[in-house]
Amino acid sequence: MWPFIILALVASFGLGAWLGAPYLPILASDRRQLLALANLKPGQTIIDLGSGDGRLLFAAAKQGIRGIGYEINPLLVIISRIVCWRYRTLVTIHLANFWQIKLPPADAIYVFLIARYMPKLEQKLRRDITQPTLVVSYVFALPESKPIRQNATSAVYQFPAQLPKSR
Ligand SMILES: C[S@@+](CC[C@H](N)C(=O)[O-])C[C@H]1O[C@@H](n2cnc3c(N)ncnc32)[C@H](O)[C@@H]1O
Repeated sequence: MWPFIILALVASFGLGAWLGAPYLPILASDRRQLLALANLKPGQTIIDLGSGDGRLLFAAAKQGIRGIGYEINPLLVIISRIVCWRYRTLVTIHLANFWQIKLPPADAIYVFLIARYMPKLEQKLRRDITQPTLVVSYVFALPESKPIRQNATSAVYQFPAQLPKSR
């Protein structure tokens, strides 16, 4: 029984690391600053691509912001649904590979991936986003896009209108 459980855990966490980023939650202080930078209002919607344990969605929901999470690790989906249970009318978390979904309309999309996947993500955002949407990236920048505002750890981009980065 134990070997099976350990194998399932390794596979779940390994899949996330392989397909986007390993599980590593955003720091609490950075979370507050990132939400302030995004400047969303109650009733607006944020998507978390790779929503981990749901902390960002929980913090957003505390401000009345609706949240949609996509997470590939089933254990983290269960944990994040428990974490966000209090705000279950505002937060929905899907067990899904976000590369394989068409992004629904939202006011903002939040990502915390790794550098290797940022070019692929940027292509997906360009394909999928048709309405004005903020993209908020933690730690790693989108390579071809120019942020409209940023702080020490995060950058906010406006999609679909993008200015080429000056080189
Ligand atoms: C660095 S963690 C960020 C967690 C959370 N967004 C936060 O900021 O606290 C990245 C998360 O993305 C998930 N992930 C990676 N690739 C994914 C994919 N293709 N589809 C869905 N989730 C993915 C991982 O399982 C992990 O939980």
